[in-house]
Amino acid sequence: MTNIVFKEKIKNLYFIVIGFIPSIIFIFFSLNFLMKITRSVKSHYIKNYNDLFRGIRFKKKNILEIGIGGHDLEHYKGGSLLMWKHYFLFSNIYGLDIINKNFNFFPRINSFVGSQNSKETLNKILEKMKTVDVIIDDGSHYNQHIFFTFKFFFQHLSNDGIYIIEDIKMPFSDIVSDQPLESISEPELFFNTLIHRVNSSNFGEIPEDYFLNNIKKVICNDSQIVIFKNKRDKKKTSYNFSPEKTKEGYIKLSDKINK
Ligand SMILES: C[S@@+](CC[C@H](N)C(=O)[O-])C[C@H]1O[C@@H](n2cnc3c(N)ncnc32)[C@H](O)[C@@H]1O
Repeated sequence: MTNIVFKEKIKNLYFIVIGFIPSIIFIFFSLNFLMKITRSVKSHYIKNYNDLFRGIRFKKKNILEIGIGGHDLEHYKGGSLLMWKHYFLFSNIYGLDIINKNFNFFPRINSFVGSQNSKETLNKILEKMKTVDVIIDDGSHYNQHIFFTFKFFFQHLSNDGIYIIEDIKMPFSDIVSDQPLESISEPELFFNTLIHRVNSSNFGEIPEDYFLNNIKKVICNDSQIVIFKNKRDKKKTSYNFSPEKTKEGYIKLSDKINK
């Protein structure tokens, strides 16, 4: 046995021990601490997750992480699945990886093998999860796959659900489409248009569009997008008298009032 294989086996044993420690022991520990002991590689996002998940830590949720970690090392890694398991005391944690990781023996963890780009795989997960409350896409990081998975799962995400895409490498630009979001087939154009429309939907009417009618807000962090699902009124009113734009800004109101 080479030195590296031996070291990996020891690490695997470590993960197994951590995974079986009852989560209640960690009730007073922070996500940051849990990240360290599970050797998860999320340090870049840990502050965001702290803020995002504090309110649901003790709720019973169904959480799916795409990309378990460890790449082509079978049955290896899964640090973030263990981190989520110990952080969310009552939730079920689901993981998907294209390589067989098989973490099903840990309580409250279910893992699946398959690609995030396969409808059959995603259907199998959905069948098992039934309700999906949080999705973290940290899988292949291909824009086409990210888009495919998002389009599949968003409609099944619970109202109030959160959809997170990590390590997103997408050129954000002001090139947006005027087509309905549902008919856009190109990932970059879809996400650019979605962000633009959600961020500017306070002005005027929200058109009939499944995504816009069900997204409350989108936050773009450094290489991470967080999409909050929630039903929204189609019609959003601004003011009775909106000022017109001039060279200095939106200040010209008197003409409208004096009419
Ligand atoms: C960055 S790692 C995940 C790290 C893990 N989420 C963590 O925070 O510790 C990415 C994982 O995605 C898996 N992956 C790559 N392509 C995939 C695909 N098409 N579908 C599902 N998983 C994939 C890789 O095998 C790898 O284990």
